[in-house]
Amino acid sequence: MGSAKNELLRVQLRWMKEIDLDCVYELEQKCSPRPWGPMEFADVLMHSNCVGLVVEFRSQIIGYLIYEMHENTLKILNIAVLSEFRRKGVGSQMVARLACFLARNTRQEMTLSVRESNLSAQLFFRSLGFKAVSINRGTEDSEEDSYVMQYRHKSRVLPTEMVLN
Ligand SMILES: CC(C)(COP(=O)(O)OP(=O)(O)OC[C@H]1O[C@@H](n2cnc3c(N)ncnc32)[C@H](O)[C@@H]1OP(=O)(O)O)[C@@H](O)C(=O)NCCC(=O)NCCS
Repeated sequence: MGSAKNELLRVQLRWMKEIDLDCVYELEQKCSPRPWGPMEFADVLMHSNCVGLVVEFRSQIIGYLIYEMHENTLKILNIAVLSEFRRKGVGSQMVARLACFLARNTRQEMTLSVRESNLSAQLFFRSLGFKAVSINRGTEDSEEDSYVMQYRHKSRVLPTEMVLN
């Protein structure tokens, strides 16, 4: 899955650095219906169990993924791809990288929460083997319900042997 698309685009996947944050924040404003603020990025990435990945195309950051490591789970906190680069396998490459991490260590699953109105993200994660396992009801802060989606390593939908740049 996705490797041919990756070659076509010549994308590079690497760890997010502090110097990337302005660019990532800018991308978030363009991509997300409810964008994180700059402090949210800084706060999250200060935690030692939170990690960011970025995808570059011709030295431009076109996508990113932020995840949190728990004892048995990798929790995806944020993922976005610039609209002109969507449907080219970029998002899948980032999630496939996490699947490689699952394969190499004791964690068995990835989870995330996706808003009820974000159908394209639900379809994206479903295409990668994620399943909706529960519903988080809206709160006073955010009235919208969201689905908790889960990927179990043993389902092996995503490749775990991928070699990326
Ligand atoms: C969700 C997102 C990261 C997907 O990134 P992407 O690079 O476009 O995803 P891919 O190209 O790897 O898509 C893989 C598959 O997912 C499914 N998919 C992705 N976007 C879809 C859409 N809008 N509608 C239907 N299916 C979709 C398709 O099956 C697709 O394969 P195909 O293109 O061969 O049909 C991107 O749409 C995005 O940035 N959205 C805005 C931010 C967001 O909503 N983040 C999620 C928060 S939970």
